[in-house]
Amino acid sequence: MSTPRTAATLARRSSLGASLGLGEKLFASTEEKQFLDAIDRGLEEVESGLVEQIGFSDALADATTRYLLDAGGKRIRPTLALVTAQLGAGATPEVIVAAQAVELTHLASLYHDDVMDSADTRRGVPSAQRVWGNSVAILSGDLLFARAAQLVAELGIETVRLQSRTFERLCLGQLHETTGPEPGEDAVAHYLQVLADKTGSLIAASARSGVLHSGAPREYADAVSLFGERVGIAFQLADDVLDLSSRPDQTGKVPGTDLRAGVPTLPLIHLRRSAVTDAGSAALLARLELAAAASPAEPGADPGADAELADAIAELREHPVTDQTVAEARRWAALAVDALEPLPRGPVRKALSRFADAVVERSS
Ligand code: IPE
Ligand code: IPE
Ligand code: MG
Ligand code: MG
Repeated sequence: MSTPRTAATLARRSSLGASLGLGEKLFASTEEKQFLDAIDRGLEEVESGLVEQIGFSDALADATTRYLLDAGGKRIRPTLALVTAQLGAGATPEVIVAAQAVELTHLASLYHDDVMDSADTRRGVPSAQRVWGNSVAILSGDLLFARAAQLVAELGIETVRLQSRTFERLCLGQLHETTGPEPGEDAVAHYLQVLADKTGSLIAASARSGVLHSGAPREYADAVSLFGERVGIAFQLADDVLDLSSRPDQTGKVPGTDLRAGVPTLPLIHLRRSAVTDAGSAALLARLELAAAASPAEPGADPGADAELADAIAELREHPVTDQTVAEARRWAALAVDALEPLPRGPVRKALSRFADAVVERSS
Protein backbone atom coordinates (compact mmCIF):
# COMPACT_ATOMS: atom_id res chain seq x y z
CA MET A 1 0.00 0.00 0.00
CA SER A 2 1.44 3.35 -0.89
CA THR A 3 1.05 6.55 1.11
CA PRO A 4 -0.18 9.77 -0.54
CA ARG A 5 2.63 11.88 -1.97
CA THR A 6 3.07 15.36 -0.57
CA ALA A 7 4.18 18.27 -2.75
CA ALA A 8 7.49 18.29 -0.87
CA THR A 9 8.08 14.63 -1.61
CA LEU A 10 7.28 15.06 -5.26
CA ALA A 11 9.66 18.00 -5.44
CA ARG A 12 12.34 15.94 -3.72
CA ARG A 13 11.70 13.06 -6.09
CA SER A 14 12.26 15.23 -9.12
CA SER A 15 15.44 16.59 -7.57
CA LEU A 16 16.48 13.00 -6.85
CA GLY A 17 15.98 12.26 -10.50
CA ALA A 18 18.15 15.20 -11.39
CA SER A 19 20.90 14.78 -8.84
CA LEU A 20 21.07 11.02 -8.45
CA GLY A 21 20.23 9.94 -11.96
CA LEU A 22 17.25 7.90 -10.70
CA GLY A 23 14.98 9.31 -13.37
CA GLU A 24 11.70 7.56 -13.97
CA LYS A 25 12.45 7.18 -17.66
CA LEU A 26 15.44 5.01 -16.85
CA PHE A 27 13.55 3.00 -14.23
CA ALA A 28 10.53 2.10 -16.27
CA SER A 29 9.87 -1.62 -15.70
CA THR A 30 7.36 -2.69 -13.04
CA GLU A 31 10.13 -4.00 -10.82
CA GLU A 32 12.07 -0.76 -11.19
CA LYS A 33 9.01 1.39 -10.49
CA GLN A 34 8.36 -0.58 -7.31
CA PHE A 35 11.98 -0.06 -6.41
CA LEU A 36 11.70 3.73 -6.86
CA ASP A 37 8.45 3.79 -4.87
CA ALA A 38 10.10 1.93 -2.01
CA ILE A 39 12.93 4.47 -1.95
CA ASP A 40 10.40 7.32 -2.00
CA ARG A 41 8.40 5.89 0.88
CA GLY A 42 11.59 5.34 2.84
CA LEU A 43 12.67 8.93 2.25
CA GLU A 44 9.33 10.22 3.52
CA GLU A 45 9.81 8.24 6.70
CA VAL A 46 13.39 9.41 7.08
CA GLU A 47 12.32 13.00 6.58
CA SER A 48 9.49 13.04 9.09
CA GLY A 49 11.70 11.31 11.65
CA LEU A 50 14.48 13.85 11.09
CA VAL A 51 12.16 16.70 11.96
CA GLU A 52 11.21 14.88 15.18
CA GLN A 53 14.85 14.18 15.96
CA ILE A 54 15.68 17.85 15.89
CA GLY A 55 13.73 18.81 18.96
CA PHE A 56 15.88 19.89 21.88
CA SER A 57 13.17 21.54 24.02
CA ASP A 58 15.13 24.72 23.60
CA ALA A 59 13.80 27.44 21.33
CA LEU A 60 17.23 28.62 20.13
CA ALA A 61 18.68 25.13 19.61
CA ASP A 62 15.53 24.02 17.79
CA ALA A 63 15.68 27.03 15.48
CA THR A 64 19.40 26.82 14.72
CA THR A 65 19.45 23.05 14.08
CA ARG A 66 16.28 23.11 11.97
CA TYR A 67 17.66 25.99 9.93
CA LEU A 68 19.86 24.04 7.49
CA LEU A 69 17.66 20.95 7.55
CA ASP A 70 14.78 23.08 6.26
CA ALA A 71 16.97 24.95 3.78
CA GLY A 72 17.20 21.94 1.43
CA GLY A 73 19.85 19.38 0.59
CA LYS A 74 19.83 16.40 -1.73
CA ARG A 75 19.62 13.67 0.98
CA ILE A 76 22.00 11.50 -1.00
CA ARG A 77 23.33 9.66 2.05
CA PRO A 78 19.95 8.40 3.34
CA THR A 79 18.98 7.64 -0.25
CA LEU A 80 22.05 5.43 -0.66
CA ALA A 81 21.19 3.55 2.56
CA LEU A 82 17.66 3.02 1.28
CA VAL A 83 18.94 1.84 -2.11
CA THR A 84 21.38 -0.74 -0.70
CA ALA A 85 18.70 -1.90 1.79
CA GLN A 86 16.84 -3.18 -1.27
CA LEU A 87 19.48 -5.92 -1.44
CA GLY A 88 17.74 -7.27 1.65
CA ALA A 89 14.36 -6.65 3.28
CA GLY A 90 14.23 -2.97 2.30
CA ALA A 91 13.48 -0.03 4.59
CA THR A 92 13.30 -1.84 7.93
CA PRO A 93 12.87 0.38 11.03
CA GLU A 94 16.63 -0.03 11.63
CA VAL A 95 17.47 1.11 8.09
CA ILE A 96 15.33 4.23 8.61
CA VAL A 97 17.14 5.04 11.87
CA ALA A 98 20.53 4.45 10.24
CA ALA A 99 19.55 6.68 7.30
CA GLN A 100 18.53 9.45 9.71
CA ALA A 101 21.80 9.08 11.60
CA VAL A 102 23.93 9.50 8.48
CA GLU A 103 21.99 12.57 7.36
CA LEU A 104 22.25 14.15 10.84
CA THR A 105 25.99 13.46 10.85
CA HIS A 106 26.30 15.09 7.44
CA LEU A 107 24.15 18.05 8.50
CA ALA A 108 26.26 18.57 11.61
CA SER A 109 29.43 18.50 9.53
CA LEU A 110 28.03 21.26 7.28
CA TYR A 111 27.62 23.63 10.26
CA HIS A 112 31.24 23.05 11.24
CA ASP A 113 32.58 23.08 7.68
CA ASP A 114 31.04 26.48 6.96
CA VAL A 115 32.77 27.95 10.00
CA MET A 116 36.09 26.47 8.89
CA ASP A 117 35.62 27.63 5.30
CA SER A 118 34.12 31.04 6.22
CA ALA A 119 31.33 30.19 3.80
CA ASP A 120 28.73 32.87 3.12
CA THR A 121 25.94 30.58 1.98
CA ARG A 122 24.85 26.99 2.34
CA ARG A 123 21.90 25.32 0.67
CA GLY A 124 21.02 28.68 -0.88
CA VAL A 125 20.68 30.51 2.46
CA PRO A 126 23.20 32.47 4.58
CA SER A 127 25.40 29.99 6.45
CA ALA A 128 24.54 29.44 10.12
CA GLN A 129 27.53 31.37 11.41
CA ARG A 130 26.63 34.35 9.25
CA VAL A 131 23.26 34.38 11.02
CA TRP A 132 24.20 33.50 14.62
CA GLY A 133 28.01 33.68 14.78
CA ASN A 134 30.64 30.97 15.11
CA SER A 135 29.86 29.73 18.62
CA VAL A 136 26.19 29.05 17.95
CA ALA A 137 26.99 27.40 14.60
CA ILE A 138 29.61 25.11 16.18
CA LEU A 139 27.35 24.19 19.09
CA SER A 140 24.43 23.50 16.74
CA GLY A 141 26.67 21.07 14.85
CA ASP A 142 27.65 19.43 18.14
CA LEU A 143 23.99 19.04 19.14
CA LEU A 144 23.31 17.31 15.83
CA PHE A 145 26.31 14.99 16.28
CA ALA A 146 24.95 14.14 19.72
CA ARG A 147 21.55 13.24 18.27
CA ALA A 148 23.17 11.12 15.57
CA ALA A 149 25.08 9.27 18.31
CA GLN A 150 21.85 8.61 20.21
CA LEU A 151 20.31 7.15 17.08
CA VAL A 152 23.19 4.79 16.32
CA ALA A 153 23.17 3.64 19.95
CA GLU A 154 19.79 2.07 19.14
CA LEU A 155 21.40 0.01 16.39
CA GLY A 156 24.01 -1.89 18.35
CA ILE A 157 27.72 -1.90 18.89
CA GLU A 158 28.74 -2.62 15.28
CA THR A 159 26.95 0.51 14.09
CA VAL A 160 28.35 2.55 16.97
CA ARG A 161 31.83 1.46 15.85
CA LEU A 162 31.08 2.25 12.21
CA GLN A 163 29.75 5.68 13.16
CA SER A 164 32.68 6.55 15.45
CA ARG A 165 35.29 5.35 12.95
CA THR A 166 33.53 7.35 10.21
CA PHE A 167 33.39 10.46 12.38
CA GLU A 168 37.08 10.04 13.18
CA ARG A 169 37.95 9.82 9.48
CA LEU A 170 35.77 12.82 8.70
CA CYS A 171 37.66 14.90 11.29
CA LEU A 172 41.05 13.62 10.11
CA GLY A 173 40.12 14.51 6.53
CA GLN A 174 39.20 18.05 7.53
CA LEU A 175 42.38 18.29 9.64
CA HIS A 176 44.68 17.08 6.87
CA GLU A 177 42.98 19.40 4.40
CA THR A 178 43.81 22.26 6.77
CA THR A 179 47.42 21.26 7.40
CA GLY A 180 48.25 20.27 3.81
CA PRO A 181 50.79 17.65 2.69
CA GLU A 182 53.87 16.86 4.74
CA PRO A 183 57.20 17.91 3.17
CA GLY A 184 57.96 15.45 0.38
CA GLU A 185 54.40 14.06 0.31
CA ASP A 186 52.74 13.98 -3.12
CA ALA A 187 50.13 16.78 -3.18
CA VAL A 188 47.61 14.89 -5.33
CA ALA A 189 47.85 11.65 -3.29
CA HIS A 190 47.47 13.65 -0.09
CA TYR A 191 44.45 15.43 -1.49
CA LEU A 192 42.73 12.24 -2.65
CA GLN A 193 43.20 10.78 0.84
CA VAL A 194 41.61 13.93 2.30
CA LEU A 195 38.60 13.46 0.04
CA ALA A 196 38.28 9.76 0.90
CA ASP A 197 38.33 10.64 4.60
CA LYS A 198 36.21 13.78 4.75
CA THR A 199 33.54 12.73 2.25
CA GLY A 200 34.06 9.12 1.10
CA SER A 201 33.91 7.70 4.63
CA LEU A 202 30.38 8.90 5.37
CA ILE A 203 29.04 7.99 1.94
CA ALA A 204 30.61 4.52 2.37
CA ALA A 205 29.05 4.18 5.83
CA SER A 206 25.67 5.21 4.40
CA ALA A 207 25.76 2.53 1.73
CA ARG A 208 27.03 -0.06 4.22
CA SER A 209 24.25 0.73 6.73
CA GLY A 210 21.59 -0.24 4.22
CA VAL A 211 23.14 -3.70 3.86
CA LEU A 212 23.78 -4.21 7.58
CA HIS A 213 20.26 -3.32 8.73
CA SER A 214 18.16 -4.94 6.03
CA GLY A 215 19.38 -8.51 6.51
CA ALA A 216 21.05 -8.40 3.07
CA PRO A 217 23.88 -10.90 2.49
CA ARG A 218 26.90 -9.71 4.47
CA GLU A 219 29.23 -10.25 1.53
CA TYR A 220 27.69 -7.17 -0.12
CA ALA A 221 28.76 -4.90 2.75
CA ASP A 222 32.37 -4.46 1.63
CA ALA A 223 31.40 -4.01 -2.02
CA VAL A 224 28.97 -1.17 -1.32
CA SER A 225 31.42 0.41 1.16
CA LEU A 226 34.14 0.48 -1.48
CA PHE A 227 31.61 1.85 -3.95
CA GLY A 228 30.65 4.61 -1.47
CA GLU A 229 34.23 5.53 -0.73
CA ARG A 230 35.14 5.85 -4.41
CA VAL A 231 31.96 7.60 -5.41
CA GLY A 232 32.55 10.00 -2.50
CA ILE A 233 35.90 10.95 -4.02
CA ALA A 234 34.24 11.50 -7.41
CA PHE A 235 31.51 13.52 -5.71
CA GLN A 236 33.99 15.77 -3.96
CA LEU A 237 36.07 16.29 -7.13
CA ALA A 238 32.87 17.38 -8.85
CA ASP A 239 32.36 19.73 -5.89
CA ASP A 240 35.77 21.30 -6.64
CA VAL A 241 34.56 22.07 -10.14
CA LEU A 242 31.25 23.39 -8.76
CA ASP A 243 33.23 25.84 -6.64
CA LEU A 244 34.22 27.42 -9.96
CA SER A 245 30.64 27.48 -11.22
CA SER A 246 29.20 30.70 -12.60
CA ARG A 247 25.75 29.54 -11.39
CA PRO A 248 25.42 30.15 -7.62
CA ASP A 249 21.64 29.91 -8.14
CA GLN A 250 22.22 26.20 -8.91
CA THR A 251 24.97 25.36 -6.44
CA GLY A 252 23.55 27.30 -3.47
CA LYS A 253 27.11 28.39 -2.69
CA VAL A 254 29.19 31.47 -3.46
CA PRO A 255 31.68 30.73 -6.30
CA GLY A 256 35.30 30.66 -5.18
CA THR A 257 34.46 29.88 -1.53
CA ASP A 258 37.24 27.28 -1.38
CA LEU A 259 39.72 29.58 -3.11
CA ARG A 260 39.00 32.50 -0.80
CA ALA A 261 39.28 30.31 2.29
CA GLY A 262 42.63 28.98 1.05
CA VAL A 263 41.14 25.45 0.77
CA PRO A 264 43.10 23.57 -1.88
CA THR A 265 41.12 21.96 -4.67
CA LEU A 266 42.37 19.69 -7.46
CA PRO A 267 42.22 22.41 -10.14
CA LEU A 268 44.44 24.58 -7.95
CA ILE A 269 46.85 21.75 -7.10
CA HIS A 270 47.23 20.97 -10.82
CA LEU A 271 47.61 24.68 -11.62
CA ARG A 272 50.42 24.99 -9.06
CA ARG A 273 52.17 22.06 -10.74
CA SER A 274 51.72 23.41 -14.21
CA ALA A 275 52.88 26.89 -13.09
CA VAL A 276 56.41 25.53 -12.58
CA THR A 277 56.91 25.12 -16.33
CA ASP A 278 54.10 27.15 -17.96
CA ALA A 279 54.10 30.95 -17.84
CA GLY A 280 50.35 31.24 -18.57
CA SER A 281 49.55 28.99 -15.61
CA ALA A 282 51.96 30.91 -13.39
CA ALA A 283 50.27 34.21 -14.34
CA LEU A 284 46.80 32.82 -13.63
CA LEU A 285 47.94 31.38 -10.31
CA ALA A 286 49.37 34.74 -9.25
CA ARG A 287 46.14 36.49 -10.30
CA LEU A 288 43.99 34.02 -8.39
CA GLU A 289 46.06 34.24 -5.24
CA LEU A 290 46.07 38.02 -5.33
CA ALA A 291 42.33 38.27 -6.00
CA ALA A 292 41.46 35.67 -3.35
CA ALA A 293 43.56 37.50 -0.75
CA ALA A 294 41.93 40.83 -1.66
CA SER A 295 38.45 39.33 -1.47
CA PRO A 296 38.22 37.76 1.98
CA ALA A 297 35.02 35.90 2.74
CA GLU A 298 33.74 38.65 4.99
CA PRO A 299 30.49 40.54 4.52
CA GLY A 300 31.05 43.94 2.98
CA ALA A 301 34.40 43.08 1.38
CA ASP A 302 35.46 45.30 -1.53
CA PRO A 303 33.07 44.48 -4.44
CA GLY A 304 35.81 45.41 -6.95
CA ALA A 305 37.99 42.65 -5.50
CA ASP A 306 35.09 40.23 -5.93
CA ALA A 307 34.80 41.14 -9.62
CA GLU A 308 38.51 40.49 -10.17
CA LEU A 309 38.19 37.12 -8.40
CA ALA A 310 35.15 36.23 -10.53
CA ASP A 311 37.21 36.99 -13.66
CA ALA A 312 40.13 34.89 -12.49
CA ILE A 313 37.76 32.02 -11.60
CA ALA A 314 36.22 32.23 -15.08
CA GLU A 315 39.72 31.83 -16.55
CA LEU A 316 40.45 28.87 -14.27
CA ARG A 317 37.16 27.27 -15.37
CA GLU A 318 38.42 27.34 -18.97
CA HIS A 319 41.95 26.17 -18.10
CA PRO A 320 42.89 22.52 -18.90
CA VAL A 321 43.33 21.83 -15.15
CA THR A 322 39.54 21.97 -14.77
CA ASP A 323 39.09 19.37 -17.52
CA GLN A 324 41.75 17.27 -15.80
CA THR A 325 39.71 17.43 -12.58
CA VAL A 326 36.55 16.38 -14.39
CA ALA A 327 38.47 13.48 -15.95
CA GLU A 328 39.74 12.45 -12.51
CA ALA A 329 36.18 12.57 -11.14
CA ARG A 330 35.03 10.33 -14.01
CA ARG A 331 37.86 7.90 -13.30
CA TRP A 332 36.76 7.54 -9.66
CA ALA A 333 33.13 7.14 -10.69
CA ALA A 334 34.17 4.29 -13.03
CA LEU A 335 36.20 2.68 -10.23
CA ALA A 336 33.13 2.94 -8.00
CA VAL A 337 31.07 1.07 -10.58
CA ASP A 338 33.79 -1.62 -10.77
CA ALA A 339 33.36 -2.19 -7.03
CA LEU A 340 29.75 -3.27 -7.65
CA GLU A 341 30.83 -6.46 -9.45
CA PRO A 342 29.86 -8.80 -6.54
CA LEU A 343 26.28 -7.45 -6.52
CA PRO A 344 23.50 -9.20 -8.42
CA ARG A 345 22.23 -7.49 -11.56
CA GLY A 346 18.99 -5.61 -10.86
CA PRO A 347 17.63 -2.22 -9.84
CA VAL A 348 20.06 -1.70 -6.93
CA ARG A 349 23.14 -2.19 -9.04
CA LYS A 350 21.65 -0.14 -11.84
CA ALA A 351 20.69 2.70 -9.46
CA LEU A 352 24.16 2.78 -7.90
CA SER A 353 25.81 2.83 -11.34
CA ARG A 354 23.52 5.63 -12.48
CA PHE A 355 24.30 7.51 -9.29
CA ALA A 356 28.04 7.24 -9.97
CA ASP A 357 27.53 8.71 -13.44
CA ALA A 358 25.21 11.46 -12.21
CA VAL A 359 27.63 12.52 -9.48
CA VAL A 360 30.19 13.75 -11.96
CA GLU A 361 27.64 15.48 -14.16
CA ARG A 362 25.88 17.21 -11.27
CA SER A 363 25.22 20.95 -11.12
CA SER A 364 24.28 21.31 -7.42
C1 IPE B 1 28.14 18.87 0.55
O1 IPE B 1 27.46 17.66 0.43
C2 IPE B 1 29.38 18.66 1.34
C3 IPE B 1 30.29 17.71 0.68
C4 IPE B 1 30.68 16.65 1.28
C5 IPE B 1 30.75 18.02 -0.67
P1 IPE B 1 26.12 17.56 -0.40
O2 IPE B 1 26.35 18.07 -1.77
O3 IPE B 1 25.58 16.17 -0.26
O4 IPE B 1 25.20 18.59 0.35
P2 IPE B 1 23.61 18.68 0.48
O5 IPE B 1 23.24 17.75 1.59
O6 IPE B 1 22.98 18.30 -0.82
O7 IPE B 1 23.36 20.11 0.85
C1 IPE C 1 32.73 19.49 2.95
O1 IPE C 1 33.75 19.76 2.10
C2 IPE C 1 33.09 18.20 3.63
C3 IPE C 1 32.43 18.03 4.90
C4 IPE C 1 31.37 18.66 5.26
C5 IPE C 1 33.04 17.08 5.82
P1 IPE C 1 33.78 21.16 1.33
O2 IPE C 1 34.10 22.27 2.24
O3 IPE C 1 34.69 20.94 0.19
O4 IPE C 1 32.30 21.21 0.79
P2 IPE C 1 31.35 22.45 0.49
O5 IPE C 1 31.79 22.98 -0.82
O6 IPE C 1 31.51 23.43 1.60
O7 IPE C 1 29.97 21.85 0.42
MG1 MG D 1 33.04 23.97 2.65
MG1 MG E 1 35.53 22.40 3.76
